[in-house]
Amino acid sequence: MTAPSFRWTESGESHLVTEESPIPEETPPLVETRGLTKVYSLGKVDVTALKNIDFSLSEGGFLGITGASGSGKSTLLNCLGALDKPSSGQIFIRGRDISGLNNEEMALYRRHSAGMIFQSFCILPAYTAKENVALPLLFSEVPKKERLARADALLDQMGLAARKEHKPNELSGGEQQRVAIARALVNNPEILLADEPTGNLDSRTSSEIVGVLSELNRRQNLTVVMVSHEEGLLREHAGEIIRLHDGEIREHIRL
Ligand SMILES: Nc1ncnc2c1ncn2[C@@H]1O[C@H](COP(=O)(O)OP(=O)(O)OP(=O)(O)O)[C@@H](O)[C@H]1O
Ligand SMILES: [Mg+2]
Repeated sequence: MTAPSFRWTESGESHLVTEESPIPEETPPLVETRGLTKVYSLGKVDVTALKNIDFSLSEGGFLGITGASGSGKSTLLNCLGALDKPSSGQIFIRGRDISGLNNEEMALYRRHSAGMIFQSFCILPAYTAKENVALPLLFSEVPKKERLARADALLDQMGLAARKEHKPNELSGGEQQRVAIARALVNNPEILLADEPTGNLDSRTSSEIVGVLSELNRRQNLTVVMVSHEEGLLREHAGEIIRLHDGEIREHIRL
């Protein structure tokens, strides 16, 4: 089956808009990769970061990705989040291939469909928690009042009602990561991608943050993909785990 032609657009609630609205007969998985391969060319040397990755993930799933340093975890997540492009193979999101998107379409996909969080939080030091969360909406047509209202509600949901006007250096690591999660959710993404979100946190705070992701997954049916080298942490919450080794799937564990 060939994927229907499509584009991401700026407007509308629906994140994916088809050119001619061809709706697949069966509901496809939220994510499916086929032969996903990523080769970085460094002058004369090629580094194969991902090799023939095939997996699918249903809507509402929680996939953990683990493996040793350099095994390709971040590369895979970055491809799923359209921060990077595969060298070959395909990534289907709801049956539509995102591997061939141009840069503008990739940016729209990142903005509307994929929320991302990282080990280093990546929130802006000069802005308050609320401003950080509302920031991705600046590029949308959402009026300022609603931008701030959405940020307010998400910070409440993250248990940060009393921290909204704080700047990142006035927040703990766990609180900063909660701000980052709220920011990742502000555009109602279809999938939340987390790259070592607990890498800079102590074990108690790590459990709390994974607990937040797990709750979003269970209560709101948000599809989550989380990279962590701590397999034990993933086993507590994920429905399935992919273990990478040298860019290949070594094991796909269903829990
Ligand atoms: N931009 C790049 N240019 C060249 N090589 C890269 C680039 N990004 C990653 N690589 C290489 O691809 C391989 C996979 O890297 P990746 O960052 O995906 O690993 P990882 O599993 O996330 O590791 P870690 O646990 O240390 O974060 C590594 O060999 C790395 O050196
Ligand atoms: Mg990494």
